[in-house]
Amino acid sequence: MADGTAAMRARVAMYSANQLKLGLFGANCSSGRAVTLVPERWTGSWQDNLRLAQMADEAGLEFMLPVGRWKGYGGDTDYQGATLETVTWAAGLLAKTKRLTVFGTVHAPLFHPVIAAKEFVTADHIGEGRFGLNIVVGWNEGEFEMFGVAQRDHESRYEYGEEWIDAIKRMWSEPDAFDFDGKFIKLKQVRSKPKPYGGTRPVIMNAGASPTGQAFAIRNCDALFSNASRDTLAESAKHVQNVKAKARAYGREIDVYTVGVITCRPTMKEAQDYYRHCVIDHADWRAVDGILALKNITPQTRPDDFEQVRNHFANGMGGIPIIGDPDAVAADLARLSAAGFTGIAVSLVNYADELPYFCDEVLPRLARMGLRQPRS
Ligand SMILES: Cc1cc2nc3c(=O)[nH]c(=O)nc-3n(C[C@H](O)[C@H](O)[C@H](O)COP(=O)(O)O)c2cc1C
Repeated sequence: MADGTAAMRARVAMYSANQLKLGLFGANCSSGRAVTLVPERWTGSWQDNLRLAQMADEAGLEFMLPVGRWKGYGGDTDYQGATLETVTWAAGLLAKTKRLTVFGTVHAPLFHPVIAAKEFVTADHIGEGRFGLNIVVGWNEGEFEMFGVAQRDHESRYEYGEEWIDAIKRMWSEPDAFDFDGKFIKLKQVRSKPKPYGGTRPVIMNAGASPTGQAFAIRNCDALFSNASRDTLAESAKHVQNVKAKARAYGREIDVYTVGVITCRPTMKEAQDYYRHCVIDHADWRAVDGILALKNITPQTRPDDFEQVRNHFANGMGGIPIIGDPDAVAADLARLSAAGFTGIAVSLVNYADELPYFCDEVLPRLARMGLRQPRS
């Protein structure tokens, strides 16, 4: 398993020469990332996911990124209450697509590393080298309680995560049996075959926001996903450069991606009206407030900007809102690319209904801007 090989670089590039990579985020969950009551909200069903993945594959999008979620957030819709487990979801989609990279989003403390390594390899063989791994270390106490697993303190979560991925990388690469004697993980005479597809390994990402989370990604991952905001793109550009420079200091390369929520309609007014309809007039506010409370965001802790944060969370639980006609959406995406982001994982209120218009109108504009190849 040589990280610097051409085969590994092709994997990390998600087998695409496009300068701006595009993926879909959160489709494995009911309601996706839109905390809304509107009846057309995303079902998250397998049939809808399969239809969506095949559409995305056909259109040449690069990846699908699921949310690792174990129980819903309540509210009137039990937001994200029905979720497809992400590694089995990825395996199914990989069997039925040709080009897409499909990630599994895995809580390191909840998956035994020996089982996890083998699950990932199995999905990777099904997809002939297109499985990706999003490592999450967890933040939602209630989810861990459901498993009877105690959350470690924030720093130790990432320390555990590092051991977990070290053990998995060894299982992916060591030809012979080995013992693993970590601070948290102790394994005897580990044997793990087959190895990942093609003598490489799955592309690995993480979305840590804290300095510890980002340092984890810089040391261990091929990609870091970071939130961006329209008003602070200059800071984002510095962040991207900084992350890449730190990785190089370890002799590594890392790509930085971001996350967004797209509302694209023929006119600016239609896009703004639909956005308002879904995420302001018909937000599932009880669910939004529940999510915020989990993060200790209340009118008391955030007296100055609570309403602003609340609106932001109704719209895709964070992530940059990209609202407009196809020209405006393409221009926003181009600005993110210019800030240095390798790509963006986007969500739509009803992914499958809205994706064809996005692909027909925005992808050709991005191609004309030189950010993507014309669709083949
Ligand atoms: C793009 C993206 C995807 C994420 N996916 C998940 C997820 O599926 N499950 C989860 O528990 N946390 C998820 N997170 C949370 C992060 O893994 C991380 O815990 C969070 O950004 C806070 O950073 P910190 O752990 O460094 O404090 C995601 C965050 C982002 C930005």
